[in-house]
This record gives sequence, C-alpha cells and structure tokens, in this order.
Amino acid sequence: MKIVVIGQGAIGLLWYSHLVSTEHSPALLCSQRAVTTDTNMSLTTYDNQLSVIPLNIINKEQLQLADVVLLCLKAYDILPALKQYQAYLNEKATIILCHNGIIAPNDIHAVLPKQSVLTLLTTHGSKKTDNFAITHTGNGQSQLGKLQQASEVEHKTLTTILNQALPSVVWHNNIGYHQWIKLAINCVINPITALNNIDNGELLKPQYQELIHKICFEITQVAAAENIKLELQQLINNVFKVASVTAKNCSSMRADFQQNKATEIEHINGYIVKLAAQHQLEVPQNSLLYQQVNQHYS
Ligand code: PAF
Repeated sequence: MKIVVIGQGAIGLLWYSHLVSTEHSPALLCSQRAVTTDTNMSLTTYDNQLSVIPLNIINKEQLQLADVVLLCLKAYDILPALKQYQAYLNEKATIILCHNGIIAPNDIHAVLPKQSVLTLLTTHGSKKTDNFAITHTGNGQSQLGKLQQASEVEHKTLTTILNQALPSVVWHNNIGYHQWIKLAINCVINPITALNNIDNGELLKPQYQELIHKICFEITQVAAAENIKLELQQLINNVFKVASVTAKNCSSMRADFQQNKATEIEHINGYIVKLAAQHQLEVPQNSLLYQQVNQHYS
C-alpha cells in the first residue's frame, strides 16, 4: 500500500519515521517552505535510541499514486491543504486527518465530497529538534475513526498498519465522542502550558486543579448542548493521564509560542467559545484562555 504523509512537523515526521519500519515504505510530501536537499531524517525514540531514516520526499504530482494520504498538519492548515491537493488525489485514496481541535465535518465534505476520510487522534508527544530531526517525548496512544465514506475493509487494514507502525492505534465507531475527549485534553494542556511556559507534567500540581476542573466542566456543558454526553470526572482523569505520560513534553501550543508561530487556539478553546455562543452558554474560563492566547501576539 502506498502511503504518503503530508507535513514535516513533529507529528508528521513521527508517523513517517515509524511507518518506514513497516512493509509499506511511505513517502513524505513537504510544504513548499521546507524545500530540502536532506536525504535522511533522525529519530530519537522514546527509549532514547537514535536512528537515521532515509527520506523519500515526493512532490504533489506524485500524490495520485497514493492509496492512503495521512495529513499531519496544524488544524488551520488542513482545509487549505485539502483544497491545494484535491486535484492530485486518486479518488479511491483514503484520506486521514491528524490534527488538534475539531474541524466542522461539513467543511471537509465541501472540499472532498466523495473521498473516504478518517480522523486520527493522537496523544503522542514529539519534539522537533532540527528541520528533519525529532525526539519522541511522550508515548501516547492513537484513535482512528470514520468522518465520511470509508468501508469496513479500509478501517481494519489501516488500523492494523498504523498500529504496527506506532502502537497503540484503536478503531472507534463513535469517533465523534473521542474527538471531544481529545479536544478537552487540548483545551486544558495547550493554553495553560503555553501561557505559563511549563512542561505538560506541571499541570499535575495542586495549583492547577481548580482551573482544570472549571475548564472541563464548561466543556461538558457545551458538549451536552451538542448531544454529546461527557462525564466530568472521566474527562479530568483523561487530562491527567495525558499530562502524566507526556510530562516532559512541550505542548504544541507552547512550541508555537516559542517559535512565534500561529497557534491552533481557534480550533481548540475557540471552538468551545464559538459553540457556547451558539447555545447561549457562558464559558468564562475557556473564553479567558482564548483571549489570553490571542493577546500573546498583539
Ligand atoms: O498538542 C499537543 O501538544 C498534544 O496534542 C498533547 C497530547 C497535548 C501532548 O503535548
């Protein structure tokens, strides 16, 4: 199976480097700003082993040969990338979207009405140490599920391949529910670690407990208005679990702050704030974090 990973960020390179160890030799499609003559990338594994991995970089015209296209991009880059590459995709290819936050399903359908589209949620921590060098800093888990079309054969095959590459990957029929759990994890970890310039593990300290509780409570209220039933304590436990397994990790939003890059706040706490307004709900903590992150650059 021909798999193309789009995106040379920390998560794109993490998946590319792990897919290389399977029989499905992957290819990497980089953004134009990452034009490179490098022929290798380096991976420092979670157990501190350094490996050098050959880069198989392709251009967008070669995308039509792909059976599977895995987009590992910032949430705000997903729709522009789908629009940019849509004309080059084989109509039988399965598209997998891997990003933080939530993108409205209608927006994806508007760009790719006929294609099989899956989403891959991941809590792995990965840090970019150079252009084509990463360290796997947090041994998380991934969840795969259908956003549109995808047959049962596709979902079984892809779960197996991704799970071989970077376990564990579990298929979920109700991925919408898991998207909300992951959204809550990012609504807590990302803005707090970015604004306070701290590692994820710091969130386990007593001083953050009340704030975490309030953020999660607001999310359960908005989710309920969207007919998604989330259990508050389970949500909080999930946040702590991820903060603990990625304790030494620099969250992606904190990394964005450090590199003066745009953040995904619009698709994370911004998504909660937007939905809350539609349902006439108050979400003061999520609103405050949303404002504070936006103010960081003003
Ligand atoms: O955005 C991130 O940094 C990651 O999604 C996570 C799971 C919070 C780990 O740092």
